[in-house]
Amino acid sequence: MARILGGIASSHTPTLGFALDQNKQNDPAWAPIFADYAPVQKWLMEKQPDVLLMIFNDHVTSFFFDHYSAFTLGIGESYAVADEGGGVRALPPIQGHPGLSHHIALGLVADEFDMSFFQDKPLDHGCFSPLSLLWPHEPQWPGAIIPLVVGVLQFPIPSAKRCYKLGQSLRKAIESYPEDLKVVVVGTGGLSHQIHGERAGFNNPEWDAKFLGLIEKDPQRLTEITHAEYAKLGGMESSEVIMWLIMRGALSSNVKKIHQSYYLPSMCGIATVIYENEASDPLPERNQEYVERMNAQLKGIEELQGTYPYTHARSVKAYRLNKFLHDLIHPAHRAAFKADPEAAFEAAGLTGEERELVRSRNWRGMIHYGVIFFMLEKFGAVVGVSNLHIYAAMRGETLQEFQKSRNTKALYSVAGKEGTANLAWDKK
Ligand code: FE2
Repeated sequence: MARILGGIASSHTPTLGFALDQNKQNDPAWAPIFADYAPVQKWLMEKQPDVLLMIFNDHVTSFFFDHYSAFTLGIGESYAVADEGGGVRALPPIQGHPGLSHHIALGLVADEFDMSFFQDKPLDHGCFSPLSLLWPHEPQWPGAIIPLVVGVLQFPIPSAKRCYKLGQSLRKAIESYPEDLKVVVVGTGGLSHQIHGERAGFNNPEWDAKFLGLIEKDPQRLTEITHAEYAKLGGMESSEVIMWLIMRGALSSNVKKIHQSYYLPSMCGIATVIYENEASDPLPERNQEYVERMNAQLKGIEELQGTYPYTHARSVKAYRLNKFLHDLIHPAHRAAFKADPEAAFEAAGLTGEERELVRSRNWRGMIHYGVIFFMLEKFGAVVGVSNLHIYAAMRGETLQEFQKSRNTKALYSVAGKEGTANLAWDKK
């Protein structure tokens, strides 16, 4: 079974990555940062975790306000470094762990956390700034991460209590995963800082010290604090410390603190802490019951013939092909595909199997492969095939055979102005 070895808390200020990239190890202003992270690096080297569950917020880099979510879990196979305006840091991409991610997703949703999920999005300094100081990464990272992105920038945001409860669910989900994995939960953010408005530059080291004591000994107390109170005590942007409560909720009620540091060089109180689980508290429900509850909603679905629920496993496996077909909503991609399909396949990096599925309009084959129906409907609109033709093909029937099972012979498509110009099937 997977095991949580402990938790790490860390600030995620871009200062950390900057100091590392600019080789500031011997600069007196920056040296304390490296000294503070050395024990954490050593602990990770000794414990050799397979997966770091990284809890952080994106800084409006990969997640913009066109769609902003509270809790967003990464389910992908790997994560690249985001360009935040000045080019990408020289760090390799890091592996994900889709199997554990999917399991955590099932567990959290079963506990009524209605999560968002993502893949194929680069991660910004919220993740890679601390990560680059925690783990060596040349030529590659020693393990995988699962990103948990928390929307803390656009209010309303989750309460401190909700974050703590999410952590408690996270623990159950991780510790019920059947593979022998060593997991460390990393909560990032803070400590005190404010970086906007006339109050920019606000810090409160006394509050930071108190917060460090409470999160270790009395995290429940921290769950009662409102965002306004966090802002008053530590500065508006320090409200992100609620993400530490997710990490703390995933640990045992008593923890052993084996390292703590605090340094305030400029704008943000930079803290690092390591907690080991003191004793493994019994989980609140038996593992078998929990796993059954996790899978209850789709139990028995496999008995339905010709039915393929669109799970994370399918979404990750067929991501490239679904994306290719989804891109047909963009006029330029659509035009490029129509003008030269083979060049479009090449540009999208489709595999030979994926290209053949598209070339041969293998509607049923695409569903088997992991394409969701709504991509087929878009593809049909582009190539002049009606939805009914696709339904018939998926059943292995001719259109006429399929139409015998309908009340009318109506045909339709999602084709708009451009697509309706060549609806040959509608003109017969
Ligand atoms: Fe942040």
